[in-house]
Amino acid sequence: MKYDALFQSFNFKSGIEIENRIVMAPMTHFASNDDGSISDAELKYYSERANGPGLIITACANVTANGKAFPGQPAVDRDEMITGLRTLAETIKKNGAKAVLQIHHGGRECPPELVPNGDVVSASDVESSQGVQARALKEEEVAEIIRAFGEATRRAIEAGFDGVEIHGANGYLLQQFFSPFSNRRNDKWGGSLEKRLSFPMAIVDEVKNAVSAHAKEPFLIGYRLSPEEPHEPGITMKETFTLLDALVEKDLDYIHISLQEFWSKPRRGTTDTRSRIEIIQERIGDKVPVIGVGSIYTAEDAIKAKETNIPLIALGRELIIEPHWVEKIKAGEESTIQTALKKDDQERLVIPAQLWQAIVNAPGWFPFN
Ligand SMILES: Cc1cc2nc3c(=O)[nH]c(=O)nc-3n(C[C@H](O)[C@H](O)[C@H](O)COP(=O)(O)O)c2cc1C
Repeated sequence: MKYDALFQSFNFKSGIEIENRIVMAPMTHFASNDDGSISDAELKYYSERANGPGLIITACANVTANGKAFPGQPAVDRDEMITGLRTLAETIKKNGAKAVLQIHHGGRECPPELVPNGDVVSASDVESSQGVQARALKEEEVAEIIRAFGEATRRAIEAGFDGVEIHGANGYLLQQFFSPFSNRRNDKWGGSLEKRLSFPMAIVDEVKNAVSAHAKEPFLIGYRLSPEEPHEPGITMKETFTLLDALVEKDLDYIHISLQEFWSKPRRGTTDTRSRIEIIQERIGDKVPVIGVGSIYTAEDAIKAKETNIPLIALGRELIIEPHWVEKIKAGEESTIQTALKKDDQERLVIPAQLWQAIVNAPGWFPFN
């Protein structure tokens, strides 16, 4: 009873219905095959986690070869990938969860060794967070990447996914175009706030066109964004409001606000002292459903987050730590939920070796006991 609000079904605009309000956040696992095809290890990892959340969003999948940002990243950049992606969609959907493929281009954050000829591209010739010098995309290359997001959507449809999430967050290419720091262009893709919006909006339109052209069944489109950048110049809350207003006009199924901490407060660009997610939820109202995320571990954390009127709550790390989180709460066993990893948990929790290595190599990223 106490957690009923998490277990109400939810209907998206496109006609997709999910069983409950818990979403598995997109998480890179570094475990796809080297060519970007789906591996057995990743299928086992998703299979172990597919019995609870209403919606599962995959690791980000690169839409072009020069958009690959991680070793072991799944690819959706060519038709040969569709067979493996179909197995992934089937695995996620086997017990009723809906499957969403996150579609992505890493831009200047791609390590040179992962992209053809080490040619790292971005909105402008700005260095990455790792000190890699990127090259500004030519206009025709910008158009090619936009088309690639449409093609990736077609492949997701053919593979049997229920939707795509456009990765506009976490400092990758779409955000690089929106950011006043990384977009220093003076053509139609940059120069003013409105022009910085044009690349992400062109991708939304291309994805929508692909859905109209190819989907025979309801297919959802979500957009993920990060509300602020730490550096100045950088995206402020005020600029994020403009992005949100533009996205609301696009009639999407959801907007996903990427945060490490659900209750985090704005840095700048607003005088509102509430949490970012509450401010954003109020701005969007009931026009588009919002997904909130960030450091939600217990059933109590989730229900508290849900009380903000955010319709959907995503969990990332906690679903790695506790693959049966939803089932346990449903069965009244929430007190048995594990909220930290143990040193020997990898096999028991069906965590791919590469993801486990990444976790243990980054102290403080995941809670351990
Ligand atoms: C291992 C790992 C991989 C991630 N990969 C992605 C990704 O591919 N795409 C994305 O948008 N966010 C990614 N994130 C961010 C998460 O989706 C989420 O926003 C973040 O971890 C905060 O939620 P949490 O506290 O519930 O983990 C990743 C996070 C983790 C822990």
